[in-house]
Amino acid sequence: MAVLTSAIAVTEVALYAFTGSIVDRLSSHTPATFLQEEGWKFALMALVVLLVMPALNLLSALVIHQTLLGNFPMRIRWRVHRYLLRQSMGYFHEFAGRIATKLMQTSLAVRETVIKLLDVGNYVVVYFGGALIVAASADWRLMLPFAAWLLAYAVLLRYAIPRLNKVAQEQADARSTMTGRIVDSYTNIATVKLFSHSHREEDYARESMGLFLGTVHRQMRLTTIVNVSNDTLNMLLLFAVAATGITLWMDNAVSVGAIAVAIAFVLRLMGMSQWIMWEMSALFENIGTVQDGINSIALPATVDDAPDAKAITARGPVRGDIRFEHVTFHYGKQGGVIEGLDLHVRPGEKVGLVGRSGAGKSTLINLLLRFYDREGGAIRIDGTDIATVTWDSLRAAIGVVTWTHLAAASFGARQHPLRPPGRQRGRAGRCRAPGQRRRLHP
Ligand SMILES: Nc1ncnc2c1ncn2[C@@H]1O[C@H](COP(=O)(O)OP(=O)(O)OP(=O)(O)O)[C@@H](O)[C@H]1O
Ligand SMILES: [Mg+2]
Repeated sequence: MAVLTSAIAVTEVALYAFTGSIVDRLSSHTPATFLQEEGWKFALMALVVLLVMPALNLLSALVIHQTLLGNFPMRIRWRVHRYLLRQSMGYFHEFAGRIATKLMQTSLAVRETVIKLLDVGNYVVVYFGGALIVAASADWRLMLPFAAWLLAYAVLLRYAIPRLNKVAQEQADARSTMTGRIVDSYTNIATVKLFSHSHREEDYARESMGLFLGTVHRQMRLTTIVNVSNDTLNMLLLFAVAATGITLWMDNAVSVGAIAVAIAFVLRLMGMSQWIMWEMSALFENIGTVQDGINSIALPATVDDAPDAKAITARGPVRGDIRFEHVTFHYGKQGGVIEGLDLHVRPGEKVGLVGRSGAGKSTLINLLLRFYDREGGAIRIDGTDIATVTWDSLRAAIGVVTWTHLAAASFGARQHPLRPPGRQRGRAGRCRAPGQRRRLHP
């Protein structure tokens, strides 16, 4: 993708340079002899315009749309999902509900980050570099306005992007607060009406709307500053290039064609500069999402097989002699759930655990299945400490009927399809400068 993008950028710059030379040749030839003397160059250019460019664009579209856009994030999702399935129960307790959204968001953000860097970033660097070289090849002084503009534009990006992203982040938070409060009052409408609290509810929602609107105003002020600065820079560039070009032309230092190319570059930059700003800001936003996702996804599994773990059946079939030896466990917190418990269940013996809710019955089963690792003591099956066997084989050797299974059997199984992920922050509402060659990234 990066190679194709560079090739497209180089070809575009070459087309501009060629346009300049057309202008020069048109002014130095007579119409009668023009085609005989210059015809082959036009044939070459026609080849580039009619065959090479469409082929490059086709290849690039194939690579991006048919290969990367769908498959790349799906591959990340698949790998992350498999990684997450190995995480302990405690992990899912902590992040319940958020984890699927994280997975979806992170995989898309990884794709956006990589594609923006390799595609947009690469295009911009190659294109700007090419433009500078073409301008400098006419006369080095013609390059100066471009270099100055580039510097000022970099300063503007440096100023704007962190601020734009910060306010976008605040806006996303304010939006979810606002939505949450509104949804809450609809969901609990009976309570709201019952206690005649509608005024309090109104104020509550109104406050969050005010906060949200505040972030919109800040964002719009910033957008105005950035757009006006950007437009002013572009106009200064246009003026500087035209003035420099004409001055150099009067000194016979550059040709008419060189001025035509330089002006064409300016016009193209004007369209592109705003678009680059949004792309860069989206890039950093995506980098933030990726970092955030990695922080919650890439945690080492807390319950993992010991390095030399063997299958529990390695020494023969399981008989089912279960011993809890002075087991201590309290979900990593203070205060004992299970404190120094001894229990022996012989093969074939049926044992019922009875206790008030919260006594720790389910916790014992969780420990036996190694959903959690005991904090003290040992649990043995047929004399083998379950911490030394692979958890796959351990769980395969134990039959469990959970309450959800019973409920499903008696009330009819219900499926809980994964809800669609929350709306991706920053992916909607990005506008592109009109006439840009960039693609939509659905
Ligand atoms: N994932 C968890 N993280 C932290 N504490 C937990 C967790 N699961 C259970 N506990 C706590 O451990 C204690 C024992 O819970 P457990 O679920 O084993 O009780 P139980 O005997 O199975 O209760 P019930 O009869 O209601 O099923 C309770 O105080 C509970 O709050
Ligand atoms: Mg229980």
